[in-house]
Amino acid sequence: MIGHTLKHYRIDAPLGKGGMGEVFRAHDTKLNRSVALKVLSPELTRDVGRRQRFLREAQAAARVNHPAIGQVYDVDEEGEVTFIAMELIEGRTVRQLILERDLDCLAAVDIAIQVAEGLAKAHAAGIIHRDIKPSNIVRSNDGHVKILDFGVVKLLQPAVCADSATPEMPAIDTGCTTEPGLALGTVSHMSPEQSKGESLDFRSDLFSLGVVIYEMITWKLPFQGGNPMSIMHAILFDQPVPMRSIRPNVPPELERIVDRCLEKRADDRYPSAHSLATELRVLRRNLESGKVEHVPLVQQVRVALREIRDVPPSRMAWYSISLASLVAAIVFMVRSAQPGSLLAAGVVGLFVYRYVRNRPLQMLRLFVRRIGRIPEVRMITCKDDQLTVYVDRAGAGLYSRINETLTACNRRLFFGNAMTVAIRTDSPKDELDRALNDTGVHYVRPDVIEKS
Ligand SMILES: Nc1ncnc2c1ncn2[C@@H]1O[C@H](COP(=O)(O)OP(=O)(O)OP(=O)(O)O)[C@@H](O)[C@H]1O
Ligand SMILES: [Mg+2]
Repeated sequence: MIGHTLKHYRIDAPLGKGGMGEVFRAHDTKLNRSVALKVLSPELTRDVGRRQRFLREAQAAARVNHPAIGQVYDVDEEGEVTFIAMELIEGRTVRQLILERDLDCLAAVDIAIQVAEGLAKAHAAGIIHRDIKPSNIVRSNDGHVKILDFGVVKLLQPAVCADSATPEMPAIDTGCTTEPGLALGTVSHMSPEQSKGESLDFRSDLFSLGVVIYEMITWKLPFQGGNPMSIMHAILFDQPVPMRSIRPNVPPELERIVDRCLEKRADDRYPSAHSLATELRVLRRNLESGKVEHVPLVQQVRVALREIRDVPPSRMAWYSISLASLVAAIVFMVRSAQPGSLLAAGVVGLFVYRYVRNRPLQMLRLFVRRIGRIPEVRMITCKDDQLTVYVDRAGAGLYSRINETLTACNRRLFFGNAMTVAIRTDSPKDELDRALNDTGVHYVRPDVIEKS
């Protein structure tokens, strides 16, 4: 594709690849400016009805003008190829920012405000995004946030789903849950009504934005599963783990805002993106001024009890045995308090304490030992509780092996946060070099050091 011309766009370099096609940096030779050109996969555009519906939707999206919306410049076809020319945004996607752990609470709230403001403008024009997720949000190098791919997901819908949108209440029968090409990542940000294939309105975008905020703060998805069906099940029936039990310093107000976005019933969510943006702005002001909401004792106890409830039974058994042993030892010592037995108990207690305290480190080492044996693994790093495994290529087998090992190690932790893992493939040399020179490197394959 590089060097080719589509109409008056000269394709210069690849920018990324997604489920719907490939995105390139291109040059608009008519207007003499750089653009991003999304070239859609021919399988998606072969059906004439579907292609026309998509073109109509893209034209509507192109009419929305807002600083937080990546502008659609043009939608066109050349032969079999359908493409969209859009504003080129130099920066990093929120997906990259999450993977690089480059967001603190304030930065995440700031992104959420800009996205909510952009959505408010689009919703007022009767356009629902339907695919709000980290890879469709970019933070430009000067800090502005842009939402990408407005209306593009509609291309994934079967042609039989007639567009039922009206200017007053845009309602679309998605029917897209079994459509081929729907990526796992997309499923994880779907609203309950979207995953059931029901008609949706703008409140579906608010749910998806809630998932993105949760992810920016905790680096985890609120609804997880090994396959699209179990993720959808979690979206429909499960309550997410409270953000504060993953990151204890999350402001309670933010937890409340995200909880409301993630309500299963659209009626229980915010009535508009605008009101969500207003609440987020108040929160940002409080965070900036250092005003931290006081957490009542009752709520603190409630959070603690909820955390205990979430402890897996195997770990709970360990806690109970340790507590019972401690109580028995204290009773025994008090009853027969002799200097010798006190000393012996002290020494034993010290060993137990050291063993328990070092447990997270032991589990990290165990993970590194097991995963470092896999030939495809190039490097393993760990910051806080976040592991990153750099691999040459990742097949399903490798993914499940890494995840199973992580689950086994987490199950054996006595206390502290569970570790999470990000698997990176095709990392360019400069990214590897950067990671190598950073703190937290636990394993490096010899050839990676030689090449650096
Ligand atoms: N307008 C743009 N400016 C700069 N980079 C872009 C632009 N649009 C897309 N990209 C880059 O191209 C990548 C691929 O985008 P694309 O929309 O094809 O896939 P995606 O959003 O990652 O996944 P999916 O296909 O599941 O929606 C993005 O992750 C982003 O890095
Ligand atoms: Mg995209």
